[in-house]
Amino acid sequence: MNILITGGAGFIGTNFVRYWSSKYPKDKIVVLDKLTYAGNIENLEDLIKTDKIIFIKGDIVNKELLEHIIIHYKIETIVHFAAESHVDRSIDAPEDFIMTNIIGTFRILELLKKYKHIRFHHVSTDEVFGELPLNDKTIKFTEKTKYDPRSPYSASKASADHLVRSYTTTYGILATISNCSNNYGPYCYPEKLIPLVITRALMNEQIPVYGLGNQIRDWIHVEDHILGIDLILQKGKIGHTYLLGGNGEKENIYIVKKILEILNKPNSLIVHVGDRKGHDHRYAIDFSKAANEIGFKPLRNLDEGLKETINWYKNNQDWWIKLKPNADKIAQKYLSNPI
Ligand code: NAD
Ligand code: TYD
Repeated sequence: MNILITGGAGFIGTNFVRYWSSKYPKDKIVVLDKLTYAGNIENLEDLIKTDKIIFIKGDIVNKELLEHIIIHYKIETIVHFAAESHVDRSIDAPEDFIMTNIIGTFRILELLKKYKHIRFHHVSTDEVFGELPLNDKTIKFTEKTKYDPRSPYSASKASADHLVRSYTTTYGILATISNCSNNYGPYCYPEKLIPLVITRALMNEQIPVYGLGNQIRDWIHVEDHILGIDLILQKGKIGHTYLLGGNGEKENIYIVKKILEILNKPNSLIVHVGDRKGHDHRYAIDFSKAANEIGFKPLRNLDEGLKETINWYKNNQDWWIKLKPNADKIAQKYLSNPI
């Protein structure tokens, strides 16, 4: 199979490309990535050098480039990860989110109208559903939950999801969508909560916890997310959406303290800071549709996965130390407003 992976040099994309090239070595794997601050070609260097993948630096908004890739490499499947992905950045500067997440997805969809044979999987987020209440843990997101995005990031992803669905209904493109909860694991840019806490704790630096830290995320190991996408590509029904989650609901403060405990660092590094604007309180996924229809089951235990992830960051300081000055900018801003 000839597969195009957009955003393959980012966190989840890298893990997906590495998984795919090892599981399906006969496939032709083409990666298209703009290499924004979040994309890192070093993640894939060994695969590029050994011709296991073809890497193209470019923008998904560029329709001529997209069409050239589709024709030249006879693309049969597209897995679409490319996006601006950090909520705090979307609050400060939403324009890139609109361009990449909405216009970029639209450009791919327009080509799918013409290249109707291509199987398309759109990687999305549970954040499109807005937030759940903290006081009723029985309520979770399902495929029937109505969209209610509350940040520019989630609104841009919601727009893209709607476009994908509309192109499936209107033009018959062969698309599926997954909405997954918060991922953790290797290669995650150290601006997101888990790698931010690990890298700052390793440097004995203060850790900003937004508000009380009682917000809840449903953490999933990136490898489980990838298994879910593979299952959707194999068994998912065209036009369907699948929610993927990790059975990993935890308060932010639990995650932060757990990381400090594993690293043997003091809780005194924690600084409660002014809350994120429009902060979603809780996300939680009911993934029974994916479990029943495609056999999805998250395999990774959160505490074990956290230990492994911490070890990865400990062993790969060269990877993250260069990224840290940029990743720290948002943390510094929050830390200037302690509560
Ligand atoms: P990331 O920010 O780590 O990586 C995004 C990648 O996309 C980078 O390599 C970047 O260079 C590339 N990119 C950005 N704009 C581009 C453009 N215009 N053209 C080509 N490439 C471009 O993001 P991630 O965490 O790996 O997320 C990947 C996808 O998964 C996103 O669509 C995101 O919405 C979704 N998702 C993420 C999570 C999570 O917890 N990280 C959870 C659910 C869904
Ligand atoms: P994040 O990793 O940015 O993912 P998302 O906002 O997409 O869920 O944040 C996860 C949670 O951690 C979220 O509730 C915000 C919170 N958070 C902090 O308390 N401090 C931080 O420095 C960061 C980056 C996030």
